Parts: sequence; structure tokens; C-alpha cells
Amino acid sequence: MNISMIGTGYVGLVSGTCFAETGNHVLCVDINEEKVQMLQSGQLPIYEPELEHIFERNTKAGRLHFTTDLQKAVAHADIIFLALPTPPGEDGSADLSYILGVARDLSKMITNYKVIVDKSTVPVGTAERVHAALAEHLDPQLFDVVSNPEFLREGVAVEDFMKPDRVVVGTTSPKAQALMKQLYEPFVRQGNPIYFMDERSAEMTKYAANSYLATRISFMNEIANLCERVGANVDDVRLGIGSDLRIGKRFLFPGIGYGGSCFPKDVQALAKTAEEYDYDFKILKSVMQVNTLQKQIMVEKLQTYYNNELAGKHFAIWGLSFKPNTDDIREAPSLHIINGLLALGATVCCYDPEAMDHIKKIFGNSIQYAENPYDALTDADALLILTEWNLFRTPDFQKLSNHLKSKTIFDGRNIYSMEQMNELGFYYESVGRKTIKQ
Ligand SMILES: NC(=O)c1ccc[n+]([C@@H]2O[C@H](COP(=O)([O-])OP(=O)(O)OC[C@H]3O[C@@H](n4cnc5c(N)ncnc54)[C@H](O)[C@@H]3O)[C@@H](O)[C@H]2O)c1
Repeated sequence: MNISMIGTGYVGLVSGTCFAETGNHVLCVDINEEKVQMLQSGQLPIYEPELEHIFERNTKAGRLHFTTDLQKAVAHADIIFLALPTPPGEDGSADLSYILGVARDLSKMITNYKVIVDKSTVPVGTAERVHAALAEHLDPQLFDVVSNPEFLREGVAVEDFMKPDRVVVGTTSPKAQALMKQLYEPFVRQGNPIYFMDERSAEMTKYAANSYLATRISFMNEIANLCERVGANVDDVRLGIGSDLRIGKRFLFPGIGYGGSCFPKDVQALAKTAEEYDYDFKILKSVMQVNTLQKQIMVEKLQTYYNNELAGKHFAIWGLSFKPNTDDIREAPSLHIINGLLALGATVCCYDPEAMDHIKKIFGNSIQYAENPYDALTDADALLILTEWNLFRTPDFQKLSNHLKSKTIFDGRNIYSMEQMNELGFYYESVGRKTIKQ
């Protein structure tokens, strides 16, 4: 099939590359000229495991191309995907200006039948709005609008896309349904389902999924906070509840709050949708409130430990991306923590294997950057662990002790065992577990 992907970010680039991998001819469009030039010259603008080799294979095979020319993309495709940003607007609802703007542009360019697919995360009713925007200049016989939300996770995006747990397709058009089935069949050979439903249900499914996952995180963060107070160990509690099949083991790790480009904005957008429909979605409000507080917990713990005297203290930070295996720092807890520490007069030296360039763009000269994890530790009063990259899990603790001014670790991700920290003589505070004091 001939496919165009409008928006070549995390979702557009991964989806486009994976569609090329199954033999389709894919043209990815972006308005960011620098990004398109990079891609045309064979470089990836994002870090995503597994992406590089399938990107290379498909560009070399001539199935994957990049352009800034929307008109060319329209002429190329039977199916046009919109993988555009849907950032939060000022009131928290999803900003649909990118989607509707492109839909209006398309309405002036389409001359034969196309399926327009919303892959972005968009509020209930967006497919109808896209339809209306297209119909401004276009005969409705010439297009169908489909909602096809994307569930890939950054860090394992290629694997998720190639072997999805499920594909959700929202459409009431039999013609569009048949094309979408044909396109996705190679991805569900192992029997995972393609669920066909109406557009509104598909749009709701994506928000319900992300909001439920965010709810699990906020729930576990509250359990962890309570564990600290009652003297229980949240890791044991997590195992104890996760083995119940009704609960399941995944997504029960407490930490320093959820971040990323999806959960914060999607939970907020669903709460806004509820408000618009006069529904008081109490759980979602709490999920957001708990997350805001959880992002402050590390700085609060430091303030308590240093008797509210953080001015002049110097901290090493390991991990900046909102989760491991991505360079994405959007809404990352690290941003809140660094800002909090700087506001209280502390200084920071940080290290992350992939996210340094992005962090430099935000903090410039106001913080220090290390070339490797150990350099970040020099003269630091404590090490703060903010992202659980594998690289940080088994460091050379002797070297770590030698570099730090004081053997003190605040671990926002529970990556070390308390026994080990005790044996090695560290002061060690983690989340939902007892503090190791020497
Ligand atoms: N990142 C994820 O893990 C993920 C997962 C599932 C769903 N989503 C959803 O997918 C959508 C896209 O997310 P993303 O993370 O890929 O965003 P992104 O910001 O990484 O990428 C969006 C791209 O669209 C481009 N763009 C903006 N306006 C354009 C225009 N008029 N024409 C062409 N290109 C344009 C931008 O330059 C950018 O490269 C969002 O709705 C998001 O919520 C994201």
C-alpha cells in the first residue's frame, strides 16, 4: 500500500518505519525542515531501541522516504495518517489546531478517495471534527476518517508496533475498515486482535488506557508513601499484590511521579472532557494531584535530611529522561527536581546516556553536565537517581564512594537492594522502603 505519515515524531517515525517494514511504500512528512534533512541523510532524530536497523533497511530498499511537501504526500498515499502533536491547551483540553489545520489543508489537495487516519491521541468527537474540516472543500465520497489510536511505549516502541497487544480501529465505513484490516494483518499474525468499533469508542479507548495506567502509578505511589510511614516495604507489597491475576505484575512500580509526553496531558484532557460533559471524574482529579505531589517528594526528602539548608549543597543526578531507553524528557520528574533544587540554592551535575542534549537546551549554563556517570559524582553531597537506566543498576560502588563527598544516595526508582546499601555503608533513601542509616 502507499501510505503517508503526517508528523514524523516518535509515533509517526516509528509507525511509518514499521509500515515500510511490512512492504508498504511510506512517505513521512514533517514541517520541521532540519528533522526531514536529518532523516533524508540517514540519521535518526530520536533515540529508540531497534529503530536504527529497520530504518536503514527500509530507506535502502526505497520503501521509506521523507519530505516537507504535503502535496506530494497526498498524491502518494491511499491512506494518510495524522501523527501530529496534541499538546494541552491553556485550559488542559487537547489542542487540536495541528490536526484540524492539516485536515483543512488536505481538503484542498485531495482529488481521489483516501482514508484519513487519526493516530494522534485525540478527544472524543475529533473524528467528526476532522470529517467536518475535510468536508469544507471536499466531496464526502472522496474520503473516510478513521480513529486508530497508538499504544506504543517509548523505549520499546518498535517491538510494540510490530507485535501490538491489540490494534484499535474506529470506523463505521466498511471500505475504510477493509483497508485498515489489510494494512494491519501482518502485525497480528500471532492472533492478537484488531478491534473494530465506532470512532468515539476508539478515541475513548486510548484515553481510558492511559488514564488507567496513570491511576495504577498514582495508587502505588500512595501505597509507597504509606509504607514509609507504617514501616512496610513496598517492593514486597508490590510482589504480594501483583501475583494476583486480577491485578497483574506490570505497572506497579512506585517512583517519583509519572511524566512523558502522554500520561500527564492525556489524564488532564480526559478530565477536561468529563468537565465538558458535566461529569465529575473524581478519581482522575486525585490521580493528577497525587502525581504533582509525588514529583516534589525527592526535594522534600532532601530538605528534611539537610535541615532545610539546601543552599550551597551540590548534587549528582543520574537519569534525566522520563523513563529508561528514551531520550524524551517531556514532563520528566527530573525537570521538576532540578528546578526545585536550583530554586533552593543547590547546584547540580547530571548524567543521562541519551537525554543530555535535550536537557542542555532547557538548563544551559545553570547546571553542570558530566561525560560519564562517575564524573557527575565528583564532590557531590549526594547522588540522586531519577531514571532507572540499566547502566546505573550495577555500578562500581567503590568508585562511586570515592567520587562522592558523602556516601549518600536518594533513589527515586528503588534500583538498589537495601541489604547491599547497608553492607556497603551508604545512607540510602528510596521510595516506600525503610531508610538505611549507618
Ligand atoms: N510519544 C508516544 O509515546 C505516544 C504514544 C502514543 C500516542 N502518542 C500520541 O501521538 C501524537 C504524536 O506524538 P509524538 O510523541 O509522536 O509527537 P512529536 O512531537 O514527537 O511529533 C510530532 C511531529 O509532528 C510535526 N508537525 C507539527 N505540525 C506539523 C504539520 N503541520 N505538518 C507536518 N508535521 C507537523 C512536528 O514537527 C513533530 O515532528 C500525540 O497525539 C501523542 O499524544 C504518543
